[in-house]
Amino acid sequence: MTNKYEDAVFITGAGQRIGAFLVRQFIHNTDFPIVFTYRSHRAEVDELIALGAIGIQADFNDLTELPGLVEQVKTHCKSLRLMIHNASLWLNDEQAPPLSEKYAELFKVHVETPNYLNQLLQPLLQASSSPLKDIISLSDYSVNKVQETHIAYLSSKAALQNLSMGFAKKFAPEIKVNDIAPALIKFNQGDDEDYKHKRLAQAALPIEPGYEVVWQAVQYLMNSPYTTGTSLQLNGGRHLL
Ligand SMILES: NC(=O)c1ccc[n+]([C@@H]2O[C@H](COP(=O)([O-])OP(=O)(O)OC[C@H]3O[C@@H](n4cnc5c(N)ncnc54)[C@H](OP(=O)(O)O)[C@@H]3O)[C@@H](O)[C@H]2O)c1
Repeated sequence: MTNKYEDAVFITGAGQRIGAFLVRQFIHNTDFPIVFTYRSHRAEVDELIALGAIGIQADFNDLTELPGLVEQVKTHCKSLRLMIHNASLWLNDEQAPPLSEKYAELFKVHVETPNYLNQLLQPLLQASSSPLKDIISLSDYSVNKVQETHIAYLSSKAALQNLSMGFAKKFAPEIKVNDIAPALIKFNQGDDEDYKHKRLAQAALPIEPGYEVVWQAVQYLMNSPYTTGTSLQLNGGRHLL
């Protein structure tokens, strides 16, 4: 491949929802080339590729796939301006009991994969011509609230936040590393009115904000020269109630 991308944006698990929204926002509003990973092949993945993004299929449950993923990113990109750890799975403790495959998967997707990608793709971020270079993880605001039903999931997201703080220190001052911790962003199809009412009442700002607020947070973190090692809470003031 001769013309490799420079200053590309790399997003994991972007085949749907927030990740796919971010890919579209970058394509429509910026000049950054986009490379993303997806696990399940669905129509939205083809749509993003048709818009000009490069999609790479990867399942982080199989860690042996990771060196090949890094090689593919290096094949397409000379340098990275931003990497976003977005891939995630949301499981309760009944679905992911200790010693199960699913329990291990939480930590592979939320902790081990971001750790590996940070280390292996650091040279591509350092090669960016931009004075600002970023890594952003997507964790979860509920890490701060604690839930007795999602102990494994939330402990893996807490580990992701801590991992990002560690890399913020390790990679400073060349690369900023921050985290975004969303609370309610968008209801799922099928959520009933009672559930919606209850969720909205948990926040001082009782709105369903939509994916746009994640895009705004990403832009803030990318453009700030003075923010690293931060977890930015998108919580509508939930901590106030
Ligand atoms: N949506 C919210 O309101 C909300 C609230 C709090 C935090 N967040 C965080 O924000 C981020 C984006 O949220 P979202 O709701 O858009 O996420 P999502 O749709 O639940 O997950 C994003 C992607 O991660 C992929 N993934 C799961 N396991 C994987 C694996 N083993 N290997 C590779 N990819 C895998 C999924 O692929 P498949 O399509 O194959 O399943 C999925 O498309 C996540 O990190 C999430 O935890 C979101």
